[in-house]
Amino acid sequence: MKKEKMGFGSKTIHLGQEHDPRTGAHNSPIYQTSTYVLENVDEAIRLNKDQELGYTYTRFRSPSEAELGKKVALLENGEEGIALASGLGAISTAIMTLVKGGDHIVASDVLYGCTITFMDQILSDYGVELTLVDTTDYDAVRDAMQTNTKIVYLETPCNPILRITDIEKISEIAHEHGAQVLVDSTFASPYIQNPLDLGADVVIHSATKYLSGHGNVVAGIIVGSEEFIRKVRMPHLQTLGAVISPFDAWLVMQGMKTLELRMERHCANGMKVAEYLNEHPAVEKVYYPGLADHPQHELAKKQMNGFGGMISFDLKDGFEAGKALMNSVEMISLATSLGNVDSLIQHSPSMSHFDMTPEERAAVGINEGQVRLSVGVENVEDIIADLEESLTKMEKLIK
Ligand SMILES: Cc1ncc(COP(=O)(O)O)c(C=O)c1O
Repeated sequence: MKKEKMGFGSKTIHLGQEHDPRTGAHNSPIYQTSTYVLENVDEAIRLNKDQELGYTYTRFRSPSEAELGKKVALLENGEEGIALASGLGAISTAIMTLVKGGDHIVASDVLYGCTITFMDQILSDYGVELTLVDTTDYDAVRDAMQTNTKIVYLETPCNPILRITDIEKISEIAHEHGAQVLVDSTFASPYIQNPLDLGADVVIHSATKYLSGHGNVVAGIIVGSEEFIRKVRMPHLQTLGAVISPFDAWLVMQGMKTLELRMERHCANGMKVAEYLNEHPAVEKVYYPGLADHPQHELAKKQMNGFGGMISFDLKDGFEAGKALMNSVEMISLATSLGNVDSLIQHSPSMSHFDMTPEERAAVGINEGQVRLSVGVENVEDIIADLEESLTKMEKLIK
């Protein structure tokens, strides 16, 4: 059967990974080597001109990295992909490939905290201007565009408030102004959405999350045009050095084989847990795109294939309640990551968004009692039972 015709689950298993031609090994070997022996100097010259033709040094390219980049590119319907050492490595390297001093970025005002820090504390020192906007307000996005805008950057769903942005609309606006659209699709994974099909130019994943799925690796992916990925590799990744180790790339490849199975379960569990929290008297508000009262529920139905496993919710009793709930969970782990098979919980104001003031957080909808739950693939009755017990304990603690 032609690989292009396979269903998503078969593709996650078979695409981008060849049986080892030398030994017939069914799983690709991990090429745990720093350097490669060259036939002669002419070969060195040829490969230095075009790294895509072979391997010279693991910081430039390794077979495990190349397989992983290719696999995600195929799942995202992109021309080419590249794997890096972390999600942030992917974000910073992709952005630095596209902007220089004097350029301007329009970015969503709610993003993973370190992404905003990179743009407004690091890039600003190099003369890159930044305007943060609510990317669901299309007039505000249009108004923010300048003649030197090179990038419109967004997450959908966004971390931590699960806001959904219309990728097609933003791409139209950005392209009218000659800018490129970068979408961090970490919360969705390629199972739930394919931003390039909706007009985006580049898609980024923290592969630490759903792609690998087992919480045993930190990794990132960039997918885009062949020309762009070549530039990312040489000279940007080559010199910035956020290189993925062959072992880590291999681990992500193994995790991805069950991506469809895991995402189906994450989505089913996510919906049930969101409905449970929505009825709980200690909970003020639930942020989950699958709920009918989510402000972008209709867009989520159109743009996404399932609503995912990420939920945020506001506790009625604010910051202290958030802390008390964190200290009460048992099966669910108090841990600051997401997309694992295990359920993970965090109190966003004291953890991922601790470096903002309460006023700054409130301005972007991160309330003081806001908790982010990454719903795992455990039996959903157990997740709900753990939440029920923890919410009861929390109420006793804050009395
Ligand atoms: C949406 C999003 N993008 C990027 C990152 C950064 O990924 P990494 O931790 O792999 O660098 C995170 C981390 O939580 C995230 O939530």
